Amino acid sequence: GVLSGRGADLAGRHVVVSAGGTREAIDPVRFIGNRSSGLQGYALARTAVARGARVTLVAANVALPDPAGATVVRVESALGLREAVLEAAGGADAVVMAAAVADFRPAARSDSKIKKSSADPEPIHLTKNPDILAELCDLRRAGRRPWPEVIAGFAAETDDVLANGQAKLARKGCDLLVVNQVGENLAFGTPDNAAVILVAGGDPVEVPRGPKEGLADVVWDLVAARLA
Ligand code: CTP
Ligand code: CA
Repeated sequence: GVLSGRGADLAGRHVVVSAGGTREAIDPVRFIGNRSSGLQGYALARTAVARGARVTLVAANVALPDPAGATVVRVESALGLREAVLEAAGGADAVVMAAAVADFRPAARSDSKIKKSSADPEPIHLTKNPDILAELCDLRRAGRRPWPEVIAGFAAETDDVLANGQAKLARKGCDLLVVNQVGENLAFGTPDNAAVILVAGGDPVEVPRGPKEGLADVVWDLVAARLA
């Protein structure tokens, strides 16, 4: 497109992007959440539209205007995100999981608001959420439907960034893993990002600090190369 200068290299492709952060309900008014703003996922959606793709954006709790030209599906929890992503991913060319998915959710959701009393509260028991990215890769391996040719994840790592990232890429079975550098006013809620993109069977690609659109365009470059 005009913005990216990459031309319409995603024309005729259907891509699915997840964005934002899931909320796991404790009771009708409270949840366990995370600090994802959705900015990186929305930048991925905008740049994919600019490059000619049909874009389904699965957005979890994002306070941003819908990107023009994308189909936006709003979800709240990890289970809701899973349903929407699996539904959209069937027959899609690529999926990029930029959403921060809660690893755990309260094992039971109280139907009524939890009230305080003089005693300390009961502990909140947690249970594991499904790993949507790993599940997508497993489904593709099983091969019973036309699942996406390219599956990409995001990971924020602190210590041993590269080793942790490589292990995660292998464990999930995805094609690309964008490893964000956390800290120094990067990532959460900021317009800038810096990352190294790990590529299955290829060399890592370093993306220096810059606008999230820039990182998004490099992700689509790698996706487009694998689709070609
Ligand atoms: N992800 C997912 N489903 C989950 C958790 C994570 O699909 N239940 C996806 C995220 O959207 C992201 C990628 O997996 O694209 C990596 O997320 P991350 O939290 O870094 O990986 P985890 O396997 O949860 O490992 P960790 O213990 O480091 O949190
Ligand atoms: Ca996690």
